[in-house]
Amino acid sequence: MTAIPVVPLNTGVAIPQLGLGTWPMDDAEVADAVVAAADLGYRHIDTATAYGNEAGVAEGIRRTGIPREEFFVTTKLDGSFQGGDRAVAGLQAALERMRFDYVDLLLIHWPLPKRDEYVSTWRTFERLHAGGLARAIGVSNFKVPHLERLAAEADVVPAVNQVELDPRVPRPAQREYAAAHGIVTESYSPLGGASGAASLLADPVLTELAERHSRTPAQIVLRWHVQQGMVALPKSSNPKRMAENLGVFEFELSPADLDRLAPLAGGPDAGNDSDRIGH
Ligand SMILES: NC(=O)c1ccc[n+]([C@@H]2O[C@H](COP(=O)([O-])OP(=O)(O)OC[C@H]3O[C@@H](n4cnc5c(N)ncnc54)[C@H](OP(=O)(O)O)[C@@H]3O)[C@@H](O)[C@H]2O)c1
Repeated sequence: MTAIPVVPLNTGVAIPQLGLGTWPMDDAEVADAVVAAADLGYRHIDTATAYGNEAGVAEGIRRTGIPREEFFVTTKLDGSFQGGDRAVAGLQAALERMRFDYVDLLLIHWPLPKRDEYVSTWRTFERLHAGGLARAIGVSNFKVPHLERLAAEADVVPAVNQVELDPRVPRPAQREYAAAHGIVTESYSPLGGASGAASLLADPVLTELAERHSRTPAQIVLRWHVQQGMVALPKSSNPKRMAENLGVFEFELSPADLDRLAPLAGGPDAGNDSDRIGH
C-alpha cells in the first residue's frame, strides 16, 4: 500500500498530498470509490455540499472499518451558506449528513465577489474553527485580491486555497501569494478536468516524458503538481486509475523536464481565469 506524504497546514494539521476528488459521483458510487481508494492507501477525500455526495463519502469511510480520525475529509459550503451566520447551519447540516463530529477542512467554495459576503462568511468560519467543528478552514477559487482582503479584514489566514490548476493553467500569481503567506495550494481538476483530461494527457510533450520515465501521462502531470508542493485531488471512480494516480511518489521530474512542461501554459486554457462557477 502506498504511503502518501503529508504537508503541514498553518493550523498544525497535516494534509495528505494526494486526495480523491469526488465530483460528479453520487452517494452510491462515491461510497464504493472511497472503499476502493482507502484499500489502495488514500486517506484524503474531497467533497462539497454542492456535490450532493457527503453522505456517501462518510458511508464509504465507515465501510472501510478504518477509524475516522485516520481520514482527512474536506467539505465546502457554496453560496447559499454565505452571509450572516448561514455557514453555521451549513456545516451542521453537512455534519449531520455525514454523521461526523468534525471535518478536517472546511472551504468557502467560491468567493462570489459580487455578493460581497465572503469576508463575513470567513468570520463565521473562524468561529467554527475555534469551536472545533472544522480542524482547518480555507477557501476555493479565490484570486489574490480576495486573499488580500481576508488578510486585511480577518484574523485567521486560510490554510488552503483550492483552485483549478494544471500545467496548462499554472496560476503563478495565486501560487506565489499562497507560498508567501503559508497557504497551501490545492489543485482541483489536476488532470485537466472531466472534459479536458483526454486532450491534456495526449499532449506530445507529456507522452514523450511518460515514455522516458516509464510512467503514464497522468503520472507525469500529477508529479508536476506534488513536486512543486501542491496538494492534488484527481478524481477517478476506476480503481486501476486510482492506483495509477498514487504512483507519483516513486520518481522525480528533473528541472529540464519541468522546463519542457512550462510552454504548455501557452495553450488554449492559459488565460482561463474567469469567475466561472466550478464544481
Ligand atoms: N473547488 C472547486 O470549485 C472544484 C471544481 C472542480 C473540481 N473540484 C474537485 O477536484 C476533483 C478533481 O477535479 P475534476 O474531477 O474536475 O478533474 P480531474 O481529476 O482533473 O479529471 C477527472 C477525469 O480524469 C479521469 N482520470 C482520472 N485518472 C486518470 C488517469 N490516471 N488517466 C486518465 N484519465 C484519468 C477521470 O475518469 P475516471 O473516473 O473514469 O477515471 C475523469 O474523467 C473533483 O472531483 C472535485 O473533488 C473542485
